[in-house]
Amino acid sequence: MADFVGSIDQGTTSTRFMIFDHGGNEVARHQLEHEQILPQAGWVEHNPVEIWERSSAVIQTALGKAGLTSNDLAAFGITNQRETTVVWDRNTGRPYYNAIVWQDTRTDRIASALEREGKGDVIRQKAGLPPATYFSGGKIQWIFENVDGVRAAAERGDALFGNTDSWLLWHLTGGTNGGVHVTDVTNASRTMLMNLETLDWDEELLGFFDIPRQMLPTIKPSSSPEPYGMTLRHGPVAGEVPLTGALGDQQAATVGQVCFSPGEAKNTYGTGNFMLLNTGTEIVRSQNGLLTTPCYKFGDEPAVYALEGSIAVTGSAVQWLRDQLGIISGAAQSESLARQVEDNGGVYFVPAFSGLFAPYWRSDARGAIVGLSRFNTNAHLARATLESICYQSRDVSDAMTADSGVELETLKVDGGVTANDLCMQIQADILGVPVSRPVVAETTALGSAYAAGLAVGFWQNTEELRQNWNESQRWEPAWTDEQREEGHARWKKAVTRTLDWVD
Ligand code: G3P
Repeated sequence: MADFVGSIDQGTTSTRFMIFDHGGNEVARHQLEHEQILPQAGWVEHNPVEIWERSSAVIQTALGKAGLTSNDLAAFGITNQRETTVVWDRNTGRPYYNAIVWQDTRTDRIASALEREGKGDVIRQKAGLPPATYFSGGKIQWIFENVDGVRAAAERGDALFGNTDSWLLWHLTGGTNGGVHVTDVTNASRTMLMNLETLDWDEELLGFFDIPRQMLPTIKPSSSPEPYGMTLRHGPVAGEVPLTGALGDQQAATVGQVCFSPGEAKNTYGTGNFMLLNTGTEIVRSQNGLLTTPCYKFGDEPAVYALEGSIAVTGSAVQWLRDQLGIISGAAQSESLARQVEDNGGVYFVPAFSGLFAPYWRSDARGAIVGLSRFNTNAHLARATLESICYQSRDVSDAMTADSGVELETLKVDGGVTANDLCMQIQADILGVPVSRPVVAETTALGSAYAAGLAVGFWQNTEELRQNWNESQRWEPAWTDEQREEGHARWKKAVTRTLDWVD
């Protein structure tokens, strides 16, 4: 068998291809950003053609850097930003509209109408999700309502829907020339259209959005011994490699962090933050504002589920300091600037740019900076931004404890923001438990490599994967309980200031 597994991670801001060896070590990677298209307040789009081009380029470059060919890859995995919606023409391969990104809030009215019409509880019960702008169903409906001819094309079977996993899988397996139209259970679950129990599209849910079933991809396991398809000799991989792993990026990170037992959790710090708690084969319904979602389904084994706390804006708040306010020149400077002060100087920043996701689910919220006095400086704002990342995670962690009864003992973390040492220290202080980061911090790409490799016997079982996990750094809480509770109470007060802002 070949010695490596390849994995593409199609994220919100960039796409990377990574190659891993049997020990789960990184052998090579290449990464490219793509444009964030912001046509008006609250709207976020990507160009799907650019995403496919960048994906092809990173695959070719990473293989070239490592001096490897398709013959060296035992399997190919895919992971992706979830919910982001692409609708394209199966005959020409052309998207009918830009990809509507998960952060986009244009479907606010669609989401509120669902609640008003009493469909919210059915969606919560069947799909495990609250009706929200976040998920794909409303985004497809918006395209139908605003782009001429797409509904008719969908009814004829010409228009296909997919998240970026399906879009890339279709291209990698031939596109207009016989590309497969598939997705996995974790991605499908983020549409408001999949039934958590049957793991199939649900007629009643499809009816809520008036979506023809024939435009939807076939739902497959996340790790599939029967490949979804093969990469092509004339494609970017330049040879035939079985595509056997597909997972939404947050579920992939949970697999990469080897959270295979009920009660194990991870928190990923990217554009947003996503905490997932493995609840085993049991579907746990949240009473506290979390999502219920499949964590993974390996082959014929029963699906494993998770409770998820999704936070829309964390790392992107740091980007906002850089791009919109210009008070830092790069992410690393958020740490040095915040270190200039002892504490937040009374400033709390709630970055509710896309409304508030878990555990609040308030699309009417907008960002607020509160507690300002003339004494405050850029450094306090930088510190308040890092704290906002950690307080939002505290809110989600509290909701998880309330739903599951599982008290967090250590928080496993990964993602770009975990390179910020101060932020991780603040996280330990605010949670009151140690925070632990593994040696391989690219757990998302690693998780989809694991799913792909398990399917072809590159790895035998999850026990083998556990052996690959090693801690690289740990942060211990230093605040007193009093400091922690006082800070959290202030944060909660700041959150109330963001609500009811949009009519
Ligand atoms: O649900 C959205 C999530 O999948 C996006 O993750 O890492 O691309 O920001 P990321």
